Amino acid sequence: MVEFMKLKRRFYILLHPRPTVLITTVCREGKYNVMPCTWHTPVSWDPDLVLIVVDKENYTHKCIMETKEFVVNVVDDKFLDKIMKLTVHGDKVDKFKLAGLKTMKARFVRAPILRDAIAYIEATLYRAIDVEDETLFIGRVLDARVRSDVFRAGGWDYSKARLLLHHWENIFVKPDPRSVVAAPR
Ligand SMILES: Cc1cc2nc3c(=O)[nH]c(=O)nc-3n(C[C@H](O)[C@H](O)[C@H](O)COP(=O)(O)O)c2cc1C
Repeated sequence: MVEFMKLKRRFYILLHPRPTVLITTVCREGKYNVMPCTWHTPVSWDPDLVLIVVDKENYTHKCIMETKEFVVNVVDDKFLDKIMKLTVHGDKVDKFKLAGLKTMKARFVRAPILRDAIAYIEATLYRAIDVEDETLFIGRVLDARVRSDVFRAGGWDYSKARLLLHHWENIFVKPDPRSVVAAPR
């Protein structure tokens, strides 16, 4: 008989892998920041709402509280060698310089977009929900765009969109186009 082992901690590992995104923000004094994030989810499509979970200790938290906006940048495996460099607090360093990230102006928010992202979502703060050490930031989606060469009508083209799924810690999973299957209806 198959046995289920009890997880001592980190139940949430069972809910990974999850697409890695980089949250970009601007702080009150105009400083840009960027933070890797894998705890995120769409919430609603009428209105369009997206949720990110942000630790209160993070500089990103302060920035979103101050300027009430953020950008969700979806990234691919070109960011693999940069991701872990971004796990420092952005109030002390310029992480864009540190990891060699280029930005471009967003249409609707002051927070920047990462030029090498394969997709991005511009959002303004709709609601902030205080939960213990974290805040759930729900953003109203003002614009969502994807690079046309990595996307088909049905979603990502995995032969081109080498998404970076976060397994845990510094380990990532890349979806393989051969692993895409259709479930019988
Ligand atoms: C792959 C990955 C995913 C992460 N996901 C989250 C997340 O969902 N929420 C969060 O608050 N921190 C997350 N972190 C940790 C933050 O990125 C990290 O604390 C970062 O230094 C915060 O930067 P900041 O202080 O400049 O905002 C993640 C880190 C990595 C490497």
